[in-house]
Amino acid sequence: MLGMGVVGSGVARALSQKSDSLANQIGANVCLKSVLVRDKTKQRSFEIGQNLFTDNFDEILERTDIDIVVEVMGGEHPALEFILAALESGKHVVTANKEVMAKHAPDIFAAARRKDVRVLFEASVAGGTPVVSPLMRDLVANEVVSIKAIINGTTNYILTRMSSEQIDYKTVLKDAQNLGYAEPDPTNDVEGIDAAYKLAILSTLGFRAQVKDSDVFCEGITSLSAKDFQYADELGYAIKLLAISSRINGEVQARVHPALIEKDQMLAKVDGVLNAIEIETDLTGRVLFHGPGAGSMPTSSAIVADIINIGRNVAGNAAYLDPVRLSESIKVQSISDLQTKYYFRLEAKDEPGVLAQIGSALALNKISISSFIQKGFDPEQGTAELVIMTHRATERSVQSALKDIKDLDVVARIGNMIRVSE
Ligand SMILES: NC(=O)c1ccc[n+]([C@@H]2O[C@H](COP(=O)([O-])OP(=O)(O)OC[C@H]3O[C@@H](n4cnc5c(N)ncnc54)[C@H](OP(=O)(O)O)[C@@H]3O)[C@@H](O)[C@H]2O)c1
Repeated sequence: MLGMGVVGSGVARALSQKSDSLANQIGANVCLKSVLVRDKTKQRSFEIGQNLFTDNFDEILERTDIDIVVEVMGGEHPALEFILAALESGKHVVTANKEVMAKHAPDIFAAARRKDVRVLFEASVAGGTPVVSPLMRDLVANEVVSIKAIINGTTNYILTRMSSEQIDYKTVLKDAQNLGYAEPDPTNDVEGIDAAYKLAILSTLGFRAQVKDSDVFCEGITSLSAKDFQYADELGYAIKLLAISSRINGEVQARVHPALIEKDQMLAKVDGVLNAIEIETDLTGRVLFHGPGAGSMPTSSAIVADIINIGRNVAGNAAYLDPVRLSESIKVQSISDLQTKYYFRLEAKDEPGVLAQIGSALALNKISISSFIQKGFDPEQGTAELVIMTHRATERSVQSALKDIKDLDVVARIGNMIRVSE
């Protein structure tokens, strides 16, 4: 096992506590043979024999009595190199590493195929909630039409509290950090990068062609204010950080951003640190996977399941099934081509003709308004807050309209623009 932090300790605990059950499931014992860490003297949350620790990866690579390498160290490098070297040396790999899988899946699959070994990565998306294996196996008869998901527990926790308590982002972030739900440096979570890694993996499996993290449009949650939640609620919506990918005319569009979602939709009801993934396909229609997206023991459930699956192959000397066959390539659409409804919050002067000017800027960009509401008035600034909902429009025209609106003398500030999930 490479790494013994939050996840690795959970895996070691599960392997130890469930050893009889695992032996029954597999038909052979699973033994933890060696654990790579940086600091061999560090106290771990689950105790294993001190002699199992090493800080030298080559020791693991060279051992012929090791069948499976479990990578739970995280980060792109050297995890990628270790995974590839393990595969090249004929060892099977189980990994929880979303960054490596989002960026390098085709190289990893190719190395596994070349050496006739398996690589499984259930824990790389949604922790303890199964979704990778269902996409690879149970839904394989389907064409995936779209994937819509809440796959970052930290941001879902923050947004849930902003919504229910009407408090601002910074206050909730601090609380989340104190409770251990957010990292001291929360960038990867709050900027949507972590969700983009996971969406890239799900899209690659769903559309059977590589979708990289850099193909995913990414916008985080830091510009959301308590007011957005209040107005969204009045309009019948929740706000969630959604990861959405869809197949449109043979192309893929993949995006992570805050979205207004109607309150009666299933994803709107997913609160706190939980994850949920809704997959729409041609044969099944919609299926929803819902559950814990992180944590030591839930994540170890996914990893140990992968170990059991590979263990059965090893113990039974069975042929290894090629996990994923990817087509050559798929065109990824720009966010500018997105067509959806939009929510704008603006501060504008409270004087006659303002609505006409904003309406005309929108009309010139071929955007029609579905509702226009005047909210609070600020007597000091002489401005009023306006909330506009549009009919379907393209992102390109919305960006152009926002520029035009910003240039209007009567507009003091554009508070926010949020896409609506249809
Ligand atoms: N935490 C979760 O709930 C969760 C859920 C799903 C997926 N994952 C994924 O699981 C992986 C591990 O996450 P984690 O939360 O367990 O991380 P973590 O607590 O930071 O543990 C990382 C472990 O890897 C070791 N390590 C890191 N770099 C190393 C290097 N260059 N050489 C040797 N050892 C090294 C560390 O050794 P030392 O202890 O000696 O420093 C530590 O034991 C990541 O890919 C993460 O994205 C995590």
